[in-house]
Amino acid sequence: MPKLIIDGREIEVPQGTKVIEAAARLGIMIPRFCYHPALGPQGACRLCAVKFLEGPVKGVEMSCMTRAQDGMVVSTTDPEAMEFRRYVIEWLMLHHPHDCPVCDEGGHCLLQDETVSGGHGLRRYLGKKRTFYDQDLGPFVQHEMNRCIHCWRCRNFYQDFAGYRDLGALQIGNRMYFGRYKPGRLESPFAGNLIDICPTGVFTDKPSRYKGRHWDYERGPSLCLHCSLGCSIIGSARYREMIRLEARFHEAVNGYFICDRGRYGFAYAHHPERPRQARVDGREASLAEGLRVAAARLADVEQKYGPAAVAGLGSPRTSLEAMAQLTRVSRLRGWAPPYFFPDQGLAAKVKAAVSGLDESIAASLRELEAADFIVVAGADPINEAPMLALALRQARRRGGTVAVIDPRPIFLPLEFHHLAAPPAAINQLLQVLVKKGLASTDWPGQPEETVRAFYEALPGSLTAAFSEHQETLFHLASKLGQSRFPVLVCGLGIVRETTPSLAAALAQLCRRARGRAGMFFVLPGPNAF
Ligand code: SF4
Ligand code: SF4
Ligand code: FES
Repeated sequence: MPKLIIDGREIEVPQGTKVIEAAARLGIMIPRFCYHPALGPQGACRLCAVKFLEGPVKGVEMSCMTRAQDGMVVSTTDPEAMEFRRYVIEWLMLHHPHDCPVCDEGGHCLLQDETVSGGHGLRRYLGKKRTFYDQDLGPFVQHEMNRCIHCWRCRNFYQDFAGYRDLGALQIGNRMYFGRYKPGRLESPFAGNLIDICPTGVFTDKPSRYKGRHWDYERGPSLCLHCSLGCSIIGSARYREMIRLEARFHEAVNGYFICDRGRYGFAYAHHPERPRQARVDGREASLAEGLRVAAARLADVEQKYGPAAVAGLGSPRTSLEAMAQLTRVSRLRGWAPPYFFPDQGLAAKVKAAVSGLDESIAASLRELEAADFIVVAGADPINEAPMLALALRQARRRGGTVAVIDPRPIFLPLEFHHLAAPPAAINQLLQVLVKKGLASTDWPGQPEETVRAFYEALPGSLTAAFSEHQETLFHLASKLGQSRFPVLVCGLGIVRETTPSLAAALAQLCRRARGRAGMFFVLPGPNAF
């Protein structure tokens, strides 16, 4: 682990850490435009220049491109480095329009912050500025290309991180253009992240355009409730109206990003037809009256038909507190147990999934990104849990194998194996996969008799009805055989009732064989567990 000194403070960092990251660990924020923790360095903007005083590197160099090495002595405040950074800002500002007063990024713009804090206040360049035509990118993202500083973050996020190809870098040199290759709306369901990732106002939030300044908003942390992942978000409201949502960093769940469903799916919050007042028989009433009438009618039903004739209805989107209260009230009143799922089969699958998980196999999205073999059974990540698709992509980018067993047409922004097997086949495919995959395992330690018996009882080949998948499955089994951290992802919608507990048992088996394995369930809602 290299040890270095930054601004007089010593730090030891893992091999491969960049100097900009080592500084961040010390709480020193080196200015940057192109570098982003999720995307890595690009070496495009040169704003992260620092002075290397001693050690294997000397002089002013880019801290995002330089690996931390033993013996380095680095200064982020050296006058030479600071002057260099001032020039960087000045030349990046050559073409940047002075339109902060009408730019929606103003007030939370990295370029604005760095320009002001870097001390660039006087324009010396009096020539003509570079200009571009903007594109209509659809209803969510506004495009103002004249503001671009060519940092490449948008392209690196959109293509490399998220896996979509319709937006990227066009033309070369000074005329470099970041936009869509052909007219039309952005195709990625993660496109809204361009707004957060762009350090200036090229991509801004279209629905909230001109509705207020950053400092006008009341902002508060929250969690997205549009799928079971529960990504961290920040809401901005003005005059009691939700204006916009942004991603909030969460290391284990969504990292720096969210999907567009989460970002833009809040119109219901201030929908004009949203019930805001109690009603009794169609007429508006006070809350107290509404509660009184409801209580009286419930008591009437209880008296006529018995308390068991009453059942409470919730949903996986209901808050945990409300669920707990509903369950408690139902028990106290002798009502039927409350319903939180549209059918009891789904409720049973959720119960099996949750009881099959424990700390030894439960995998977070972040851990899933580090898996080298992932099989998704009965789930459509883009539609059921979009950020799961991004995590799968990161695993694939690191060389992992990804396979999906699901009869539906599945799209993922990554290269993956698709076994379009029916729900009735999923259990069998998983069993054969694990049986073949662990066939040449040197079990660490001596597996208990029950573990060994479970493994031995697994089928070694597919029945004739599903044999068309055998070749692909055996290929995947060979990958599982080489895997050091396999993860099983299981949906709960289309699979059989027995699948969740089988999946958890197979994940446990893989853990026993490999030393490490993960299980990830795609639940039917944010509070489904
Ligand atoms: S559009 Fe924004 S993110 Fe993309 S290169 Fe320009 S400044 Fe960077
Ligand atoms: S992945 Fe799910 S929880 Fe996360 S932002 Fe999208 S809809 Fe919301
Ligand atoms: S942040 Fe290092 S070159 Fe841009």
